Amino acid sequence: QLGNTAKKLNMKIYLVGGIVRDIILGRKNLDIDILVEGDAIKLAYEFAKENGFVFHKFEEFMTAQIKTKDNIKLDFATARKEIYEYPGAYPKVEKATLREDLFRRDFTINTLAIDITEENFGILLDYFYGYQDIRNKKIRVLHELSFIEDPIRIFRALRFAGRFGFKLGSHTEKLLKVAIQQNFIKVAPEGRINLELNLTFNEENVIEILFLMDEYKLLNHLIKYFVLNDFRKKVLEKIRDNILYFELIFNKKADKSIIYLLGLLYHLPLEIATEFLEKYYFEKAFKSFEEFYYLKDKINENLKNSEIYEYIKGITLETKIFLISYLPENLSKRILDILNKEKEKFITGKDLISLGLKPSPKFSKIQTEIFKKYLDNEIKDKKQALEYIKQK
Ligand code: CTP
Repeated sequence: QLGNTAKKLNMKIYLVGGIVRDIILGRKNLDIDILVEGDAIKLAYEFAKENGFVFHKFEEFMTAQIKTKDNIKLDFATARKEIYEYPGAYPKVEKATLREDLFRRDFTINTLAIDITEENFGILLDYFYGYQDIRNKKIRVLHELSFIEDPIRIFRALRFAGRFGFKLGSHTEKLLKVAIQQNFIKVAPEGRINLELNLTFNEENVIEILFLMDEYKLLNHLIKYFVLNDFRKKVLEKIRDNILYFELIFNKKADKSIIYLLGLLYHLPLEIATEFLEKYYFEKAFKSFEEFYYLKDKINENLKNSEIYEYIKGITLETKIFLISYLPENLSKRILDILNKEKEKFITGKDLISLGLKPSPKFSKIQTEIFKKYLDNEIKDKKQALEYIKQK
């Protein structure tokens, strides 16, 4: 149907980029990018009008977006050349052919297109050996200046390598090393680095990517005094496991970025960590950092469970998950046990009412007091707890 609209307007349309790569890899991808040789905004507008879909346009970028009735998003872009006014800048755009549009892209694996015009429907267009690179699991740039033109591609190269388990092509690897060594990322806007890091922290293979970023010394260039030793690597791995555990057991979704930021920065003085968070717009992590730096030397083996509970009960989910990943195993286990018990809701308001107490703000005080005794094993079970309350 879209092909029909394009034909009427005498335009050519292609499926491009990540979605084509992911079709070949057999991976799920819900971002449908359609490249138009012609006016993308006009095509999207007509198509939306014909079908009653929601339509948005972005004139400055010559792009438009449509949402279908079943909430599928289609992104339309006019085939274009990008002109970077200075390395790392958001690019300026100009109309171009499909090939020119594909040539400006980051890696060959992202340059494949599938023709979706009616007469050529389904033909794969591969101008830069992208198919071969996908098959050989290689990340390769299209030209020498790629990382200079857009230093954010340094992050993207490692993100794709980690995500797909691909290797950098040998020449691309050399270019990337030079780009990092020469500190090209210095000229990239901090907001774009923030976006890239957030994407990384939300990747399934986040650990592989962070280790690659460390191996290629990208993290050293990003974070002052950064050192990733074996212990800290283990902490990062535990973060990944604990995030999953909390989703499964507690049905709680944490902000992964905050926890991984803690994992990367916790060994540095708080001022250095905060400086980084401020520079890259991670203010959302401040609270958890303050909580962790305050707590890290306070929670120890000699505390009673109830004392540990006092420390952790009000803190953010992110700090909790990080603490569990960072503290020695026996302490993490104790905290998990406390959280599991807390989830059980040992004594409820109903229990208190059943003892003849009138609902009042005092309830939560009584509940906390009893719960702490339960944590310290002074009260063994619910029966004993109710007995204790009755006596009091
Ligand atoms: N692109 C680029 N340089 C960048 C960012 C993007 O060349 N700094 C190109 C890539 O070729 C990419 C396309 O723009 O295929 C769309 O970008 P994006 O949606 O970020 O890439 P995807 O490949 O779809 O990545 P993901 O699977 O992470 O969504």
